[in-house]
Amino acid sequence: MPNKIIVTGGAGYIGSHTCVELSKIGVEPVIIDNFSNSETYIVDRIRELSQTEIHLVQGDCTDSEFLKSVFGSYSDVAGIIHFAAFKAVGESSAFPLKYYQNNIDSTIAVLKAMESSNIPNLVFSSSCTVYGQPEVLPVTESSPIQPAESPYGRTKQICEDMLKDYRRAGNAVNIVSLRYFNPIGAHPSGLIGELPLGVPNNLVPFITQTAIGKRKQLTVFGKDYNTPDGTCIRDYIHVVDLARAHVAAIEFLSNLQEKGSYHLFNLGTGEGSSVQEVIDTFEKVSGVKLPYTYGERRPGDVEKVYADVSKAETELNWKCEYSLADSLRDAWNWEKLINEQKA
Ligand code: WQD
Repeated sequence: MPNKIIVTGGAGYIGSHTCVELSKIGVEPVIIDNFSNSETYIVDRIRELSQTEIHLVQGDCTDSEFLKSVFGSYSDVAGIIHFAAFKAVGESSAFPLKYYQNNIDSTIAVLKAMESSNIPNLVFSSSCTVYGQPEVLPVTESSPIQPAESPYGRTKQICEDMLKDYRRAGNAVNIVSLRYFNPIGAHPSGLIGELPLGVPNNLVPFITQTAIGKRKQLTVFGKDYNTPDGTCIRDYIHVVDLARAHVAAIEFLSNLQEKGSYHLFNLGTGEGSSVQEVIDTFEKVSGVKLPYTYGERRPGDVEKVYADVSKAETELNWKCEYSLADSLRDAWNWEKLINEQKA
């Protein structure tokens, strides 16, 4: 197994959990992060959970000269996992240039720095948002790509196309794009988890913040969809299962004989859960009666999307282990712990 993997955005939500899982297979993660969407104490927590050395370089992943100097300063780097990106759908509509610049420039900078250091493997963080509202469910990797509903989604589509063009140009990098469905939950230890800035856009952090009393009540965005209980359906995957898929992707790339290949995988549970089911499951696992109301649909929401994960299961030899209840239990545990710290 390789000695080091460079993890851009490694102090972030999925990045931090991935660094912990990488350490379990003897890898030393090299975190590059500007802490625009994380806190420095998270790196101490990663170290507490890890069995190998965790390296940290603070800086801007859109700066290719900076990345070239960092990539060149480590030996035995077998690959890059590129998480560093802005990911708030609503914010991306309000500040599109910030999203295009950060998400696309950082991917270009990573590719240039890989070239200068001859690093052969890249795992790219993509999103199911590229599928829009699929006609056929579950979604496979060959399901049609729909025009994204947000600048955030468009940056993911542009980066995927850019990676494919880069490979077609004959560059000998092996690339895996991972399309995440809905990452939720936190590390079972309660030491790391999601740190949403401001009012959370996403369902699960809004639920846990409502349950802890930080938010008055949850609004369910739409109860009139064409689903069994009228609420939207998503594929909610535990962040540790997602992290383990990145380790599987790195091992997959490290074992490849070919050079210059491009691979695409959906990462979800393969199960769809409605907003109502998430609420009901949360109330069961937490014992908290959640204050919520049914409101209007949220513009841009798709009605129903969940993954066919058979390709990742067979080719990456990876399978989800956590249930929706496990994810919500860990999310609630984390919410209680971060609020205890603040008290
Ligand atoms: C889930 C469901 C909402 C909040 C987005 C991105 C995706 C990924 C995950 C980055 C929807 C409903 C939500 C609330 C609600 N991000 N909801 N009340 O929109 O499926 O996916 O985040 O990679 O790329 O598109 O996730 O958690 O925002 O919403 O009813 O207060 O919960 O309408 O049906 P989404 P979400």
